[in-house]
Amino acid sequence: MISLQYILFTSLLLFFISPCLAQPSFRPRALVLPVSKDASTLQYVTTFNQRTPLVPINVVVDLGGRYLWVDCDRGYVSSTLRRPRCGSAECSLAGANGCGGNVCSIGPDNTVTNSGGPGEVAQDVVSLNSTDGRNPGRVVTVPRFIFACAPTSILQGLASGVVGMAGFGRYNIGLPQQFAAAFSFRRKFAVCLSSSTSARGVIFLGDGPYVFLPGVDASVSLTFTPLFINPISTAPSFPLGEPSAEYFIGVKSIKVNGKRVPLNTTLLSINREGVGGTKISTVNPYTVLEDSIFKAVTEAFINEAAARNITRVAGVAPFEVCFSSSNIGSTRLGAAVPTIDLVLQNEDVFWSIFGANSMVEVSSDVLCLGFVNGGSNPQTSIVLGGYQLEDNLVQLDLATSRLGFSSTLLGRQTTCANFNFTSIA
Ligand SMILES: *[C@@H]1O[C@H](CO)[C@@H](O)[C@H](O)[C@H]1NC(C)=O
Ligand SMILES: *[C@@H]1O[C@H](CO)[C@@H](O)[C@H](O)[C@H]1NC(C)=O
Ligand SMILES: *[C@@H]1O[C@H](CO)[C@@H](O)[C@H](O)[C@H]1NC(C)=O
Ligand SMILES: *[C@@H]1O[C@H](CO)[C@@H](O)[C@H](O)[C@H]1NC(C)=O
Repeated sequence: MISLQYILFTSLLLFFISPCLAQPSFRPRALVLPVSKDASTLQYVTTFNQRTPLVPINVVVDLGGRYLWVDCDRGYVSSTLRRPRCGSAECSLAGANGCGGNVCSIGPDNTVTNSGGPGEVAQDVVSLNSTDGRNPGRVVTVPRFIFACAPTSILQGLASGVVGMAGFGRYNIGLPQQFAAAFSFRRKFAVCLSSSTSARGVIFLGDGPYVFLPGVDASVSLTFTPLFINPISTAPSFPLGEPSAEYFIGVKSIKVNGKRVPLNTTLLSINREGVGGTKISTVNPYTVLEDSIFKAVTEAFINEAAARNITRVAGVAPFEVCFSSSNIGSTRLGAAVPTIDLVLQNEDVFWSIFGANSMVEVSSDVLCLGFVNGGSNPQTSIVLGGYQLEDNLVQLDLATSRLGFSSTLLGRQTTCANFNFTSIA
């Protein structure tokens, strides 16, 4: 039933947002977006063009967010902005929850600060670069991209220069779904966050290749794990009965230096109230672990580090576990520290976190374990955050409901900042 409903929605979506047919011969196989890391907020910010005339807009990337929302109250100038009428197919696709002055109400959220505000369903032109997976190519346009207009107030807490958030979650009008429907490509996308605040990472909408200089195609060596649906929304506000748009994976155990850490496994699965489990997030700068998991993992890490003569020093907020860098060697995969493995569907499938993704340099002589304590009753037990995703390519396949991960690209002598942004249009 769900899939029938989905097919219906997808065809409606295609009908309502189909692209300009001015160039009917050109159908992109994938699109590309640049992603910068904001140095002061550690948010990941992407840029594309919107409105008529087109202007570049900066929005914070929210991997599990439901849709694009933009501040329409301040500085929004466009001759093509339209607000679909109440009861329209666009409003039902968007999950509108009311009607006011014949425009559809919707509740956009700032998932960084967990604040929301009243919004309206809207449509406008969006344009961005297509790609062959190697370079940006011809610019393509979706004339009636569905998004939410939000009040200026909910921008608070976002990086400077940002006008909203872009939701890539599992939702009818999520960015991946709208672009896939507009150009009839597969509902797959991939995120590769740069660890540098001065060199851009990339999001590919559509299938690979995903090529990084000097010619490494990160799409060919992915490890796959099933995505789980959390039946209860994890958004700050949501209509009753709505499942979460966020991406959950099944971590079954955690190993430090190859040794299994004793954990309360109940916390690792999602219960009927939608509590527990592991999700991937780009709005959390660092991985957040439920208190008992945090204590167990950090204790194991401290013990393994001590066995290597690594000296613990006082914590530096927000981190509790820090070390003197004097006894820590360096490797191609970052600081030489114990490896943390997230074991997935079976013992042979695990996501390894090496020094480059586990240790944060807080000063010239102190490295901290880049995990934070999420307290004892968080909604989600493990939130894999941005720092742990950097320089790893993560592909989400919505059609087969699985996640592919590359492991650190540093091991393949490249990084997420190595996409060649020179256009070949
Ligand atoms: C397309 O890519 C080129 C080269 O990176 C860039 O200068 C341009 O702004 C991009 N256009 C859009 C619409 O994003
Ligand atoms: C494990 O976690 C569950 C869920 O929070 C809790 O109800 C249970 O008491 C915990 N078990 C132990 C042994 O701590
Ligand atoms: C740690 O330090 C002790 C005492 O200095 C030394 O005996 C031992 O070999 C060192 N271990 C490692 C793994 O470096
Ligand atoms: C990036 O792509 C352009 C266009 O294909 C090419 O001319 C250039 O050599 C590439 N850059 C590198 C460093 O390979």
